[in-house]
Amino acid sequence: MRKINIFDTTLRDGEQSAGVNLNAIEKLEIAKQLERMGVDIMEAGFPASSQGDFQAVKTIASTIKNSSVTGLARANKKDIDIAWDALKSSQEPRIHIFLATSPIHMTYKLRKTPDEVLEAAVSAVKYAKQKFAHVQWSAEDATRSDKWFLVKIITEVIKVGATVINIPDTVGYITPKEYGELFTFLRENVPNISQATLSAHCHDDLGMATANSLSAIEHGVGQIEGTINGIGERAGNAALEEIAVALYIRQDYYKAKTTLKLDEIKHTSQLISKLTGMAVPANKAVVGANAFAHESGIHQDGVLKEKTTYEIITPELIGVSSNRLVLGKHSGRHAFKQKAIELGFDLSAEKLKEVFDAFKALTDKKKEVTDDDIFALLADKQTEP
Ligand code: KIV
Ligand code: ZN
Repeated sequence: MRKINIFDTTLRDGEQSAGVNLNAIEKLEIAKQLERMGVDIMEAGFPASSQGDFQAVKTIASTIKNSSVTGLARANKKDIDIAWDALKSSQEPRIHIFLATSPIHMTYKLRKTPDEVLEAAVSAVKYAKQKFAHVQWSAEDATRSDKWFLVKIITEVIKVGATVINIPDTVGYITPKEYGELFTFLRENVPNISQATLSAHCHDDLGMATANSLSAIEHGVGQIEGTINGIGERAGNAALEEIAVALYIRQDYYKAKTTLKLDEIKHTSQLISKLTGMAVPANKAVVGANAFAHESGIHQDGVLKEKTTYEIITPELIGVSSNRLVLGKHSGRHAFKQKAIELGFDLSAEKLKEVFDAFKALTDKKKEVTDDDIFALLADKQTEP
């Protein structure tokens, strides 16, 4: 089974979510949890972006021992020097240099010609390689770039020492099929591509970040970048927990694995949600509050008989103790009886039927019937003669 490296950028791209600002202590707490969960690489920040981020990256780099720590830098000596100061104490100093390659970005943002971009990328990687053993280079907005220009620039940065080549879908524009084909094209046309690891970095503007990342895996990438809970710029980054769990559940199909400790996922998700102030939507895949909640009577009945009828992921896999049967207007008698037993009631079949009818009437009036409501109904019936 092929191993896929997990590159977590919760502390860099994730922190770029509108309204999120983590202090150094919070970043360190998240970094320790990411290490516990077993991410291969964590991008701790963008050291040249602020003094605060520099300090946070430096502290994380000297504390974290079991994941490789990296930091972002633009393609210039100043950013690379600052990144080196922040990262040199890490176990395995690693830098992530990016430069845009699409006509839109080169013309309007960088105001550089393709030749100037090529020259800047090559000299930045060459310079960084004098300090860092691992140099990742990203072609920002790669998916809207000319493919042959990508071939040229990737070939050259590998020649001067890039060890990871990242192909970001910066604006979440590409489709899964096109993204997969782009990796196949690069693997076929970049002559020295075998000297580097290919990496995918997806954004979720069209809701395709997870599908695009999985397609990249099918087309040979060795590294996936993303964030926990999918937080990040605009609609966010690819949600790493979705990708890791999809690979695990569908290993028959992908034939690739991560070494993430999946049972740390829920805890990590909750910690990040708490510290960033970004709530996880209840229906979010894998980590949402409803991901293991069953409401309809047919589903509850099925799950009580055999969990796999409606659950392809066990809650325990991601560190949740059990599934949740939510009692509402779609619930059936079987689940209701189970709840009565859980709450400590052992009523006759006839009394239970009466409480069930009262419960059904209540569900038409109240959106959410709580355990307390059910307890009150059961208790009333129990004390009746
Ligand atoms: O989305 C993007 O292009 C990025 C780069 C800095 C890698 O986050
Ligand atoms: Zn990004």
